[in-house]
Amino acid sequence: MDLSGKHIVIGITGGIAAYKSASLVRLFVKAGAEVQVVMTPNAKEFITPVTLSTLSGKPVISEFFTANTGEWHSHVDLGLWADAFVVAPATASTIAKMANGVADNMLVTSYLSTRAQVFVAPAMDFDMMRHPSTVRNIATLISDGCRIIEPAEGELASHLIGKGRMEEPETIFKAVATFINQTEEINNNSPEDISRSSGELAGKHILVTAGPTRERLDPVRYISNYSTGKMGVAIADEAARRGAETVTLVLGPCEVSPSEDRVNVVDVESGREMLSACLDRFDECDVAIMCAAVADYTVETPSETKIKRENADIPEFRLVKNPDIAATLGKRKAQNQILVGFALETDHEFENATAKMKRKNLDMIVLNSLRDKGAGFATDTNKVTVFTADGDETAFDLKEKIAVAADIWDLIAAKYKCSKS
Ligand code: C5P
Repeated sequence: MDLSGKHIVIGITGGIAAYKSASLVRLFVKAGAEVQVVMTPNAKEFITPVTLSTLSGKPVISEFFTANTGEWHSHVDLGLWADAFVVAPATASTIAKMANGVADNMLVTSYLSTRAQVFVAPAMDFDMMRHPSTVRNIATLISDGCRIIEPAEGELASHLIGKGRMEEPETIFKAVATFINQTEEINNNSPEDISRSSGELAGKHILVTAGPTRERLDPVRYISNYSTGKMGVAIADEAARRGAETVTLVLGPCEVSPSEDRVNVVDVESGREMLSACLDRFDECDVAIMCAAVADYTVETPSETKIKRENADIPEFRLVKNPDIAATLGKRKAQNQILVGFALETDHEFENATAKMKRKNLDMIVLNSLRDKGAGFATDTNKVTVFTADGDETAFDLKEKIAVAADIWDLIAAKYKCSKS
C-alpha cells in the first residue's frame, strides 16, 4: 500500500510490546509515509529513542521541551500534522489518560490536539484488559471516535495465557493504511463534503430499530419488555461516527437517546408504528439493523377508556401477533441491501439464531444469550456472537455496548464493504 506524502504519528507507551513498534515504524516508512514517533517517558525503558529515530529518520519526541536548548515541541502542530495517530502499544495507563484527558505527557497532549483518526492497539496483561476500568475506558475512547485494534490471544509478558498481546505490526499497519486509502478515495469522490465523508460508511444510509415497543391495553396501561434501547442507540451512534450519510433510529419508548447529533430519531410506540416507520425508510437504506425488542403480541382491541378496578368483570384481552418487522424487511430486501438482526436466546442459542437468520432472510445475526452474565437487557455490557448467512461465526468477549457496536460495524464493513453490489 502506498502512503507517500502521508503523515503518521506513532505513539509508543511503556509496555513490553514496545519492541514491536520498531517494525511498525519500518512498515510505514517503507510504504512512503513520514513518521513522527512520540514516546511516553516510560516507553524509553522498553525501547531506545535512538532505534526509533533511526528508523523514522526524525528525532523522537518525548518531552515538551528539548532539555539543552529549551526548544518547545508543539503538541498542537503535531496533532494537526497527522493524517493518522496510532498508539501502539497502548498501556492501561495511557488508555485511561486518553479517556479522561489527563494530558501530563507529550503523547496524550498531542492526542487531545489531533483531528486525525486515532488508532489504539492495547497491550497488557489479560486481567488488566478485562478489568472494568479498562473496559470502561476503551468504551469511552470508542465513543470519542478512536478505532481500537483488538489485542490477540496468546502468551503474555506475565507468562499467563489470554487476551492482551498487542496485535502484530502488519495487522496494525493494514488497518491504518486501509483507512487512509478509503478516506482518500472518498474525499476524491466528494471533495465538497470532507467532514462527513471520513469513514467507511460515507455515502451510506443506515436504518436502526431499538428499544422495546408498548402495546396498549387502555390509555394508561400497556404490555412491554425490559429492553433499554442501549444496544441499538450505540449502533446508531457508531454509524454516525463512521461517517454515514444518514442514520435513522426508529426508537421505541425508552430513557436513552443518541449522543451523536446526526442520528435522526423517529419515536414510535407500538410494533405496528415501528413497522410503518421502517417501511417508509427501508427502500432508501443500505444497511438496516434490527435491534428492537418488538413485542411478539399486541392487544386486538385495546380499551378506549381507562379500565376501572371497580368493574364487576375482570377484563379479558385477546392478543394477536405483531408484525415481524425484520421478516417483512427481509422479504422486501434488494440485492444490494444488508439486513442484520439480533437474537436474544436462553437455550439452543446457535440453532435458534441461525434458524432465525434464515427464516427472516437476514445477512447477519447477532446472538446474545441470557445465560451469559452481563449480556442482554438492562446492562451496559453485552457478549455477542455474530453469524453470517454464508457461514462465518465470530465470538466476542463481554464488552461495553459501545464497544460491541464498533465490533458489529467492523464486521459489516469487512464482510460487505458496506455494499454487496
Ligand atoms: O423472533 P425474534 O423476536 O427472536 O427475532 C429477533 C430479531 O427480529 C431482532 O432483530 C428483532 O429486532 C427482530 N424482530 C422484529 N419484529 C418483531 C420481532 C422481532 O423486527 N416483531
